[in-house]
Formats: sequence, structure tokens, C-alpha cells
Amino acid sequence: MIYLTRIEHFNAAHKLFNPDWDFQKNEEVFGKCANDNWHGHNYELYVTVKGEPNPDTGFVFDVKKLGEIIRDQVLEKIDHRNLNVDVDFMKGLMCSTENLAIGIWNELKKYLPQEVVLHCIKLYETPKIYVEYFG
Ligand code: NI
Repeated sequence: MIYLTRIEHFNAAHKLFNPDWDFQKNEEVFGKCANDNWHGHNYELYVTVKGEPNPDTGFVFDVKKLGEIIRDQVLEKIDHRNLNVDVDFMKGLMCSTENLAIGIWNELKKYLPQEVVLHCIKLYETPKIYVEYFG
């Protein structure tokens, strides 16, 4: 089994705010991410697929194709967007990096060819913070 990773970059705005809590509690829990007028992050997205190399190509999957699917089906919807209001698959969810990684996984699953096994979505919110989702 071999693992293949494609790295992509995007920028997006969001706000972490639980409407059931008052402003003070939101600030306490979410800090700067609760800023009422939004704020942005430079996200780094690592998409890892796994499998055996195809005997004809030596590839697990065509990495150029993988990049195209990520860009067309995911980045198109989230890059330079407001994650809370612009992104259909984040509707009704807290806009955390955790939920975003799960959302990206679910979107990609719909568009990857059947024979490609998605292994991990790793998403950096800052150079010091990332989440990993394995499905
Ligand atoms: Ni934030």
C-alpha cells in the first residue's frame, strides 16, 4: 500500500460563534475567532489517497487529475469565500477546521473515481494548528 498526497492552498473567512451563547461566552471559548466582523485564514490542504501502483503507469492515481478534482469540486466552493455564509456544505455547522475537514472529505468522496481510496484530509488553519480526518 502506498500513500499519495496532493497539497493545495486556499484563503477563506469565517467566524466561530454559537448563537445559543452570549457574546462574552463566545469570546471566552473562541477568542479571536469569535470576532463579529469575520477574519481570514490561509489554509493548507493535504489530500492523501492510497492504493497499489497501477502496473501500466506506476501511479496510485494521476496526481494531476487529483489536483483538478480538488480545485474544481472543493476549492471552487471555498477559496476566497466566507465559510459561514457562502459554502453549501458548511450550512448549519460550526465553521471549525474540524468540520471543514469533514466537509471537504465528504465532497471529495462524491467526485473521486470508485477505485481511488481516500485516506486522509489534513487541514492546516495556521502553521501551528492542523486537523486530520480519516473518515
Ligand atoms: Ni479562525
